[in-house]
Amino acid sequence: MDNNDFESQRPRKKVSRETIRKRQLIALCVIALLLLILILLAAKACASTNEKGGEKTPASTTTSGVVITTTTNPALTTTAVETTTVPVTETVINNSDFELDMYSVELAVGEKVMPRVTAHPEGSGEWNENWSSSDENIAEVDKWGNITAVSNGECSIILRDGLYPDQEVEIKVKVSGTPVTTTAVTTTAKSGATTESQSANAAEAPAPSRINDTNAHYEGDTLIVNKTYGLSQAYDPGDLDPTCKDWFYKLVNGAAKDGINIYLSSGYRSFDYQSQIYSNYVRDYGTETADTFSARPGYSEHQTGLAIDVNTIDDSFAGTPEAIWLAEHCWEYGFIIRYPQGKQYITGYKYEPWHIRYVGSAVAKQIHNMGNDATLEELYGITSQYQN
Ligand code: DAL
Ligand code: ZN
Repeated sequence: MDNNDFESQRPRKKVSRETIRKRQLIALCVIALLLLILILLAAKACASTNEKGGEKTPASTTTSGVVITTTTNPALTTTAVETTTVPVTETVINNSDFELDMYSVELAVGEKVMPRVTAHPEGSGEWNENWSSSDENIAEVDKWGNITAVSNGECSIILRDGLYPDQEVEIKVKVSGTPVTTTAVTTTAKSGATTESQSANAAEAPAPSRINDTNAHYEGDTLIVNKTYGLSQAYDPGDLDPTCKDWFYKLVNGAAKDGINIYLSSGYRSFDYQSQIYSNYVRDYGTETADTFSARPGYSEHQTGLAIDVNTIDDSFAGTPEAIWLAEHCWEYGFIIRYPQGKQYITGYKYEPWHIRYVGSAVAKQIHNMGNDATLEELYGITSQYQN
């Protein structure tokens, strides 16, 4: 008799029905307890996500170990990014998190505004802005996010991430007949006292006179000289535009009142002079690099007589009190920082905190209202690219 036979012939222990019921009851209790523990664990996990987001009921998705939590606070629609404990060999950064400097705006018909967009994490590389309007009869928006009020009413401008279209931020736009009043900028003077900028009382810097060159390209009253639009070799005003010069020295005096020393380092440059400068850079750095900071002859704003390089013309100028003052105040005198930081892909040139361009108050204010790091290319929806 083998073991199996023995087992099969062993007399069976008699189990009562009551004992069976008891066992079933115990099994059910154990299952219920396990379920309860699972539910409690899940609830705890949800509660901790809500606490970190600081908002209620965020929708979460997981992308290669990165949780993207979209908050729903209507006052500040942002997205928070947090890493999970899932081990990843490479951190995947989602650049779709947009933060705006405005979530509602009131405009008069014809007015333009460009919200400043910060993608989180900042400077993290590529993202894809996709702008649209809920009603283009009320406000239009171009691919750069330049909003134009068309007619009275209310609508929404939506910014979506082209890569993550479910993530979007909304700007409520109200267009009414009342022009938007430009609030005077309040700045802190060196003494620490808060003063009102002179913009409220300053006379308007007029648009510069039109130049007489067959190649000149204008957008409205603004002469455009960039990699797309050049001047002819023959255009040679010989000096700075008189209005530009006049307002530059008003700017110098305004800066001096704030204890800031601004001085002219390079003003008007002829076609031939620009040609020498550019050739030297090409010789020293090669064409590709030279093109990122020096204009080819015929394509420099300095030939217009409307551009000025101030103080130290190199990267050491960035971040100095003079550079900060210039960026904050030049618009009050009709100037703009022509090649702002982070806009090389639009202007074609690296950041030049020292290069200011006279455009007159109307355009300078428009650029200032668009975020101060806006460009003429964005304002007018134009390119800056050489043909060859
Ligand atoms: N540095 C500017 C781009 C010029 O050469 O005009
Ligand atoms: Zn310059």
